[in-house]
Amino acid sequence: MNRLGYSFFAGLVTCVSLYVGKQILKARACTKNDLKKSKYYAVCGLMFGDEGKGKLVDALIQKGIQEYGASNTVVCGINGGSNAGHTTCIDGVDYHTHFLPSGAVSDDVILYCGSSKVIEPMSLDKELAELSVRFTDIPKRTFMSELIQYTTIGHLIIDRGELGKTIGTTGKGIGITYASKCTRTGLNLYDVVNCSEEELVKKLRKLYESLGLDKYPTNTTLYTINYKNEGMDNTIDIDYDTLFSFKYDLENIAKFKKTWTNIVSGTYFAENLLNGKDHCYVFEMSNAVLLGSTHGSYPNVTSSSCTPNGILDSLCLTLTSDFIKDLKIVGVAKSYVTRVGTGTLPTDITKDDKDVANILVECGKEYGVTTGRRRTPGWIDIPALLYALRVSGAKFINITRLDNYSNIDKIKVCIGYSSSDDDDSNFQDSYPSLESKLSKARPIYIEIDGWQNFDFNNVKTYNDLHPNVKLYIDIIEKYTNVKVWAINTGKDRERIIFCD
Ligand code: IMO
Ligand code: MG
Repeated sequence: MNRLGYSFFAGLVTCVSLYVGKQILKARACTKNDLKKSKYYAVCGLMFGDEGKGKLVDALIQKGIQEYGASNTVVCGINGGSNAGHTTCIDGVDYHTHFLPSGAVSDDVILYCGSSKVIEPMSLDKELAELSVRFTDIPKRTFMSELIQYTTIGHLIIDRGELGKTIGTTGKGIGITYASKCTRTGLNLYDVVNCSEEELVKKLRKLYESLGLDKYPTNTTLYTINYKNEGMDNTIDIDYDTLFSFKYDLENIAKFKKTWTNIVSGTYFAENLLNGKDHCYVFEMSNAVLLGSTHGSYPNVTSSSCTPNGILDSLCLTLTSDFIKDLKIVGVAKSYVTRVGTGTLPTDITKDDKDVANILVECGKEYGVTTGRRRTPGWIDIPALLYALRVSGAKFINITRLDNYSNIDKIKVCIGYSSSDDDDSNFQDSYPSLESKLSKARPIYIEIDGWQNFDFNNVKTYNDLHPNVKLYIDIIEKYTNVKVWAINTGKDRERIIFCD
């Protein structure tokens, strides 16, 4: 190329780069003031899970849709995977989300699944099939970070064996998948999408050896896959040879790739979805603060940290991100507590009064959405609530399930603990989070009159509440010094009051 030709070529390259650069900047350019016009909510569970996070997320999404439109409403799942179980009741019908953010049950809303999550393809497949009966285009409007770790059949085998049983996991392979991430033997969605079949088999073999599956007996059924085909329930028994042929893992991967086509970089949310003015963003935490791997009742915990601090990591945001000061963190708490799996529930009502415990479980249908297990109910625990508010940074509370107390005449509130059975003198009001301390804590209660037979159906505003409900809310606010901002008055989507 002569000098003139070279200069022309160089000029052309510069022009094109400037144009492309400008377009990228245009897409990303969003001043602080533009961002201010948007709304940012984080929702987390303050107890041991099943507080009703999904319903609040749904209510915030409906606010977002009304103000900004569905396609300008973005819901991000941050942690965990199919161990979560969120219910949204629409016109009397329950819809369940597990891996997917609760925005799946609102057409046209954008879903983003952050890098800290783990994905189990068979449960996700079932979840999608159930939701797709009513909601459209879920895969099209879902974006998943390629850094999400992928759960294989091998992970499920280990989680459903002795290891999982000792703490009563949900059996969705969550902890084992996170463990493989830490031993660098796991598969992420990038591998799932980009590796050839040969490369995948190599990775799967290495992974299965790292899990010790090569030492398992060769002639027994290790796992049974249940699936529906043409309306019929079918099962496939997986033994050692089929497991190590990787047939079903490869089939799952092929199906996953075909369904979920928006696998994006870990920076996608920060660079492409958080740049629009007049948007509503809802960050949805799975599981709950007292179950979190760092701050929960270790070792009876799930395998991810469940405080909203994880939003930053999962979405590739930072402590200096502009939106943070506008973020409204809402913690969800039931008017009582429930817990499933092993682990101490200090305020366990069963120890106090089996009948009251049964009424709460049966009237409130306190059975797990993910596993169907009976949840153990406990009286509300103020020190636990204070602790959860502190580690989550929640400045607002959503109180749920007050209506389930309408069948009980006296309600207890735990205000502290004593470590001795017959002496309250060593009273402490701080929550002993570690299981080894928690198991020794004996709750100390105050008791208030309930709101027996009160009908929540006619409650439209805070003023319509029974005086004892108001007193209960006052007690929570006084002890925690945090505002009860949202109050659920029933199951259906509309049954929530915001106290702005
Ligand atoms: P949502 O989002 C209730 C509990 C399990 C078990 C422990 C570890 O519906 O509130 P895992 O399968 O996570 O390794 O199990 O954690 N657990 C939950 N309990 N609701 C949840 O989520 C839970 N996620 C995990 O019961 O004790
Ligand atoms: Mg649950």
